[in-house]
Parts: sequence; structure tokens; C-alpha cells
Amino acid sequence: MAPEYCYFNNFFATGSCEGQKVVDGETMPLVLEPADPAKNDVVSLVAALREDKEWFDGLITKHSAVLLRGFDVRNAVSFNDVVEAFEWADIRYVGPAPRTHVHKRVWTANEGPLSDFIYFHHEMVLMKEFPKKVVLFCEVPPPEGGETPFVPSFKVTEKMVEEFPAEVEEIEKRGLKYTFCAPGRNNSTSMRGRGWEDAFATADKQLAQIRARALGMEIEWLEDGGAKTILGPRPLTRVFEGRKERRMWFNTIVGMHGKEQSSATMADGTELPLKFVKRCEEIIEEESIQFKWQKGDVAFFDNWALLHGRRPSLPPRKVLVATCK
Ligand SMILES: [Fe+2]
Repeated sequence: MAPEYCYFNNFFATGSCEGQKVVDGETMPLVLEPADPAKNDVVSLVAALREDKEWFDGLITKHSAVLLRGFDVRNAVSFNDVVEAFEWADIRYVGPAPRTHVHKRVWTANEGPLSDFIYFHHEMVLMKEFPKKVVLFCEVPPPEGGETPFVPSFKVTEKMVEEFPAEVEEIEKRGLKYTFCAPGRNNSTSMRGRGWEDAFATADKQLAQIRARALGMEIEWLEDGGAKTILGPRPLTRVFEGRKERRMWFNTIVGMHGKEQSSATMADGTELPLKFVKRCEEIIEEESIQFKWQKGDVAFFDNWALLHGRRPSLPPRKVLVATCK
């Protein structure tokens, strides 16, 4: 039998990275490197992944984050080959981030200014359907900052229940409501500058309304040509199958509460207690894990289990993304 730290006829070996943590017995992220540094080409990597897709899928579920490091993944084309090895279905991105299509299933992660912090979120958390996996590829590592920190979501729920048992129960019972204002056209000077015409893939308001409803939201049209989307009721936490009954903090209250462009309240309009939101922000930061991007890194995030964000970065930085069902 192969030793525990090697997989697939010694193709992969476990490595380590700065910032790695052990959470509830699991190493996050799990780092997999080529066991033989000379055998790090994309063709061999894709072949190894294809050989046992379920095994790799199981690793993502177990560790919530898996980082492939040291393989010769150079560009969007090779990254797409890695993603396609799994045959996971694609899911179209709906959300505030301005993104550009790069190649097949590969998109830019967020065209918004690198100096902004993209706050922690489960990808497409407010949509009816959201990705199970978010796969990221680092083509150009930032010289400073620009990490993609992530947070085991159940840890946030655990701490919030510990500190605010009554509030958690009440908000869970009442549900949440969010509003978000999107401009008409794309504005890449903002990380939330994606216009509704692009988001709903139409300039026709009636059609946009129909598409919005299909995604579980209502639209109010604004005088400046923008759209205010209203989403709710939405849950505070969710439990997904195969995730050890962990209660995930599946909401975006900290990111949207009391902002110029967005709001978060209880579903009946009741304000959220300010100290609940403030403390939640601290807990998310306390529980965050981050590593330094290296060229060629491919990170697989279990979007059911992790919140992720982006730290402010110095240019240049190029991280590409594929979202999968
Ligand atoms: Fe994201």
C-alpha cells in the first residue's frame, strides 16, 4: 500500500503552504504537488485527475479547499483542461462582479479595482442555484496582497450561536431580506459595478424581470436607469448533504448590511442588531485562512462549505475562475 501522503501511483504528494490550518481535524487547504517534480505537465495531471474523479471530489468535500501547486498550468487553456477533466456541469455566473469571458469555462474573477477588498461570500449565495465548486487559477501572482482568503462557514455559525443564541434563532425563524442596486451598464471602476443588462443578458426590462424571478428575485426600476433587486426571504444558515451536518453561515449580511448600494434586514423589514453584524464581521476575519498565490496554482473551493474573498492587491494580479455545479 502506498504511504498515506502519496496518491495515484505516487503521482501526487501532499505538500504544505503558509497559512494552512487544521480545522476540526482537517488540513485546509490540502496541498497536492507532483510527487516527481519532472512529471508536472498538464497532460499527466489531467490524466491523473480523470483516473479517479470521485476520489478528488471526495478530497474537496473532506478538506473544503484543495490547492494544486507545482504543476505546469500556464494559461486559461490549460486551466480549462484541468477543470474539464472532472466533467462537472458549468453554471453561469449571476452577481455583482464585473467579469470577462476568457476561454470556454474560464472567466476573469473580478474586474473591479485591485485596491478594493472583496468581502467574504459563498459564491452566488442569494441565488436559487449556486455553484458547488469554485475553481481558481493564478496566472500572475500579485507582488503584494491579493490573497484569496477563505473561511470554514460552519465555524462562523458555531461562534455566532455561542455568542448570540437568541438572535440566531430569531433571525433564522424570520428569514432575511436583501436589496442590491445595480447600474444599467457595466462599470468596471467598481467591484460591484456589473450592470443589470449584462447580469440578465438583456436590455429588455420585461425579460429581465422574468429572468430575475426565475433566479428568485424581484426588480424595482430606478430613475437613473439602474435596477434595485430585492431578494427574500433567505435563510441565515443551511445544512448540506455530506458535510457532517455542519451548519453553514449561508448568508451575506455583513457584506450587504447598511451599505450605500445594498441592505440586509430580517424578511419582515426589522433591522438586524448592529452588534450582531459587527461581531460577525470580526468572527469571519478571525476564522479566515489564507495562502500566498504562486504562479500556476489551482485552488478548488467547496462553495457549500467556504466563504471566500479577495484582499486588496498591488498590480499586476491575474486570477481566473470557473464555477461548477
Ligand atoms: Fe467570489
